[in-house]
Amino acid sequence: MLNRVHAHLNCGIETSSAYHVHETKRTVGDWESAYSKATAALAKLSSSDKINIVTGVGWQGGKCVGNTAAVSSINYPSLCLQDGPLGVRYVDGVTALPAGIQAAATWDTALMNQRGAALGEEAKALGIHVQLGPVAGPLGKIPQGGRNWEGFSPDPYLTGIAMQQTITGMQGAGVQACAKHFIGNEQEHNRETMSSNIDDRTMHELYLWPFADAVQAKVASFMCSYNKVNSTFACENDKLLNGILKGELGFQGYVMSDWNAQHTTAGSANSGMDMTMPGSDFNKGNVLWGPALTSAISSNQVSQSRVDDMVKRILAAWYLLGQDSGYPTASFDSWNIGTHDVQGTHKTVARAIARDGIVLLKNTNNALPLKKPASLAIIGSDAIQNPNGINSCADRQCNTGTLAMGWGSGTAEFPYLVAPLDAIKTQASADGTTLSTSTTDSTTAGASAASAAATAIVFITADSGEGYITVETNAGDRNNLDPWHSGNDLVKAVAAVNANTIVVIHSVGPIILESIIALDNVKAVVWAGLPGQESGNGLVDVLYGSTAPSGKLPFTIAKTVADYGTSVVSGDDNFSEGLYIDYRHFDKNSISPRFEFGFGLSYTNFTYSALSITSSATSGPASSTSAGDLFDIVATVTATITNSGSVTGAEVAQLYVTLPSSAPSSPPKQLRGFAKLSLAAGSSGTAKFELRRKDLSYWNGASWVVPSGEFGITVGASSRDGRLTGTLTV
Ligand code: NOJ
Repeated sequence: MLNRVHAHLNCGIETSSAYHVHETKRTVGDWESAYSKATAALAKLSSSDKINIVTGVGWQGGKCVGNTAAVSSINYPSLCLQDGPLGVRYVDGVTALPAGIQAAATWDTALMNQRGAALGEEAKALGIHVQLGPVAGPLGKIPQGGRNWEGFSPDPYLTGIAMQQTITGMQGAGVQACAKHFIGNEQEHNRETMSSNIDDRTMHELYLWPFADAVQAKVASFMCSYNKVNSTFACENDKLLNGILKGELGFQGYVMSDWNAQHTTAGSANSGMDMTMPGSDFNKGNVLWGPALTSAISSNQVSQSRVDDMVKRILAAWYLLGQDSGYPTASFDSWNIGTHDVQGTHKTVARAIARDGIVLLKNTNNALPLKKPASLAIIGSDAIQNPNGINSCADRQCNTGTLAMGWGSGTAEFPYLVAPLDAIKTQASADGTTLSTSTTDSTTAGASAASAAATAIVFITADSGEGYITVETNAGDRNNLDPWHSGNDLVKAVAAVNANTIVVIHSVGPIILESIIALDNVKAVVWAGLPGQESGNGLVDVLYGSTAPSGKLPFTIAKTVADYGTSVVSGDDNFSEGLYIDYRHFDKNSISPRFEFGFGLSYTNFTYSALSITSSATSGPASSTSAGDLFDIVATVTATITNSGSVTGAEVAQLYVTLPSSAPSSPPKQLRGFAKLSLAAGSSGTAKFELRRKDLSYWNGASWVVPSGEFGITVGASSRDGRLTGTLTV
């Protein structure tokens, strides 16, 4: 096989990549010309046209989950806003892609981009103008947080790159992306009443970071979140929306409310919210804009120029994406799910992400890959489709049958779902393997199916979702980090009778593995994430070794829940852990995780050599707080990665930065680059990391500052497996 080097890093700059052949190359327009069109259109609008553009038609008032009224004088359509981040919600015949967390686990920017393009192409084909994703909030500071899987990773750098790639893919296909939920919506519990009290440095260096990448990627829209931020509702928060988002980040698109996250007429308008969704509450009453906004203008509580600004922002986004010409009209009805096949060839990217996001955690004596086992036992309800039907639970509000996405608004209907057992059956019949199965979570039935088999694979799960639904007593957020359905007991029962037990985990995030990970008979453990419709196919690719596993953990797996130092709170959350979430917390407090952030095994080995660091960085504050110069590349690091094993594999090389001692107290190391290289056995490639000014900066309360002194640079295979170290002096 050819030595395919594809190093992808910040700013989406890559060396070469075979994966890029099918990438959507179209780029969106520029804000400046979009604004000149919007300004011209604004002049043709009546006062009521303007109110209609900024006010949703009300809950279930149109076919999409959010709709505004058409304005014929400028050929402006009834805008269609639709969930969600892993596929189009409420339509049959769309691709149910792997969840964001699975895309993050690939660490493959090309796949992230292709996933975005698939989302965008399907949304456009259905006439959706605005697709409600991707998600950078929750960032995932709380491992139990119900919606973490909709987003990417508790590391802001990894999430930022994923945001940028997803948005570029989506908008390249023609749909407006929506960066959500802005900001601090880290848990489902009390999300509509609690305040996330976040200090300025933590806000900038963690929670705002990936949203800044979204703005840089020209995202068309933002969604302000349900919670309060520093005591003021996010959608009524002048400092947040006018100050930080539109001022400091220079965001030129529009801010819509999360559904019913608006609380006042004039307050939201004057604080920088630009569109109210869905336009009424869920009882179809309480319309805060519409006629109420007209009155607020008449009584000078809201200026006409503020409303004109809202309209210009919304129209500019529409022009930015070229939706003013030849855009399809919404051809589906959310409230009456029908079939519209818009999948194209997207199952290919779905399978690639299902496969390449799989993280191999343990593999004693090369138990994996499987080599035509004579007999194989498949154990657990997660191995099969939901017996009641793959879409039988609305918004996936059950954990029955194989788990391939969480629950809530961030779901899609499965067009089909290849469960693990479906794909394993095909492989087993080709191999002449005798299968025995126990497809419940019964320990006795599982042990009996496993006792005579050469190898047993046990499937376990942990699910979560949005808080308007409670599943098995979990009200959105997880009650704990244990596997569901007594998964530990199932593994123990099987391992007690089978010396070659393999565990496959489908989960929304970390689970605590302490009672099973060290069992002698548990030979291999695989985190298979939330893989979407191609679940079984992607899994078989890895279990049988047609592809070596190449995913790495986008979060830390701790030994105990308490080790994370964060959990779901009642009342307000003071974010007292500051910058220290996930691996930043473990590193600072010298806590040994079970599996560290960035960890993942392969079927081959990689060696690292030849670290080279060049820098033109200068110390001091960025010349302005506007996005521009913060994204300039100021240092380049390269390293040689060699596949020293015997099969083709891909390695995710990771770069961590340690700030100099002149900086205020900071996390011991922070991810600031990664590169995924696919390498044939014996071959080498160059991982190239391009560091932006922002990647070497901290937030001093007024600006981003590059501290002077010696930066530690570590390049390695995980956050705790540094292979090469060097310094960069500024
Ligand atoms: C509320 C969710 O928080 C948001 O993510 C979603 O887009 C809207 N509902 C619309 O369904």
